[in-house]
Amino acid sequence: MASITLIDNRNAERYEFDILHPTLGPDVIDIRTLYKKTGMFTYDPGFTSTASCSSDITYIDGEKGQLLYRGYEISDLANHKSYLDVCYLLLTGTLPSTTQLIDFDNELRKRSFVHEGIKELYKSFPDKAHPMAMMSSAVSALSTFYYEHLTIGNKEEMQIMARRIIAKIPTLAAFTYRRMYGIPFIYPDIERSFSENFLYMMRAYPHAEPEISEVEIRALDTIFTLHADHEQNASTSTVRSVASTGAHPYAALSAGINALWGRAHGGANESVIAQLELIGSIDNVETFVERAKDPDDSFRLMGFGHRVYKNFDPRARILSALLHELKDELGVNNELLEIAQRIEHIALEDEYFISRNLYPNIDFYSGLILTALKIPKSMFTIIFVVGRTVGWVTQWMELQEDSEKKIARPRQRYIGPLQREL
Ligand code: SDX
Repeated sequence: MASITLIDNRNAERYEFDILHPTLGPDVIDIRTLYKKTGMFTYDPGFTSTASCSSDITYIDGEKGQLLYRGYEISDLANHKSYLDVCYLLLTGTLPSTTQLIDFDNELRKRSFVHEGIKELYKSFPDKAHPMAMMSSAVSALSTFYYEHLTIGNKEEMQIMARRIIAKIPTLAAFTYRRMYGIPFIYPDIERSFSENFLYMMRAYPHAEPEISEVEIRALDTIFTLHADHEQNASTSTVRSVASTGAHPYAALSAGINALWGRAHGGANESVIAQLELIGSIDNVETFVERAKDPDDSFRLMGFGHRVYKNFDPRARILSALLHELKDELGVNNELLEIAQRIEHIALEDEYFISRNLYPNIDFYSGLILTALKIPKSMFTIIFVVGRTVGWVTQWMELQEDSEKKIARPRQRYIGPLQREL
């Protein structure tokens, strides 16, 4: 077993730690015995150099700008497979056969309805309730209808729990949208595919068939695939942390939704469009790019930068290509697209961004497509929730079966007052 030696230069003490090898990516130093051996903690605010678990779900190479789901390139999956193919792949580790996909699709369609009591919950929200607050409340409320999920004991029960929430999330997302505008809830139509059904529940009115094009269905399906999982990001780490205490899985997912809400994470997609609208013209782009570089100005280019990617986010590349391919058919706002392209062009040639490896991330382009799909900005992070739920619940299941599973309980570097008397 390879190892690394830590030398404390205060007393020349030497401490040895094993090096663990992954199948892909950096080696890890096994520091589980560090405190016992040295009496010291590691110090890593934001966990920039900390692996919190072992996982075989998703791999990211930040330097290369590579993303694999269960070993498959994200570009192959986005261009050649459906979102339901990807859900099945994440949940089981293998791509479905034609028959398996049909059965999986039918199961999700049947599970897409929610208890009528959930509608009463939505009616209790105030008119200006934020959609993410409604969504996390609704998912947490689902735990009151499925209390047997608290004592899940085997793979089959976990799969049922997972498929149940994957199927119901689009319905809750559409209910959230309908509640925001005070319009009647539309039930799922089990004759429609996953992504088509979501657009149907968003657009339909009683006795009025909405127009939904194949191009729109394909664009939304691709967006869901690109958002499906992303290793130990802030919201997934939150789901794992809550799950590590033994809380209800839907309570853990609700916590993940709340973590995703922040504009540094999933809320960035909404901020990107607001920012493009604020910039208003390509003539103003340079001014805003300079503001983003000013350390004394809190303004940041939303949709730019990433904790892991120090190259192009591969998902941004796929969305950029999709935009160019579908912009005419989808009716993409060309003015905002030109501003986005101008920002990208200027930033990618600017030393400030180059030296910090700041590239467009998934949120930089997703909002332009969602706007073309007539989805309001306030619903953008809800779309992220719909796509990411399969990742959250897959990571939850992996944690349940992890032999190294422990309650998430980091330590700290205390810098407060010494003990003192009253
Ligand atoms: C997602 O983790 C995931 O995988 C998340 C996600 C997923 O799929 O789950 O990929 C989804 O959350 C994508 C990121 C969406 N957020 C944004 O687009 C918000 C804007 N981006 C940043 O706030 C920032 O880049 C983060 C939060 C994404 C990453 O922050 P880090 O890794 O903590 O980096 P940092 O804040 O330490 O920044 C390093 C430097 C700093 O400058 P210096 O102090 O070195 O001078 O880069 C600068 C920052 O000021 N910087 C930016 C910038 N992002 C970082 N400067 C201007 N504009 C930006 N967007």
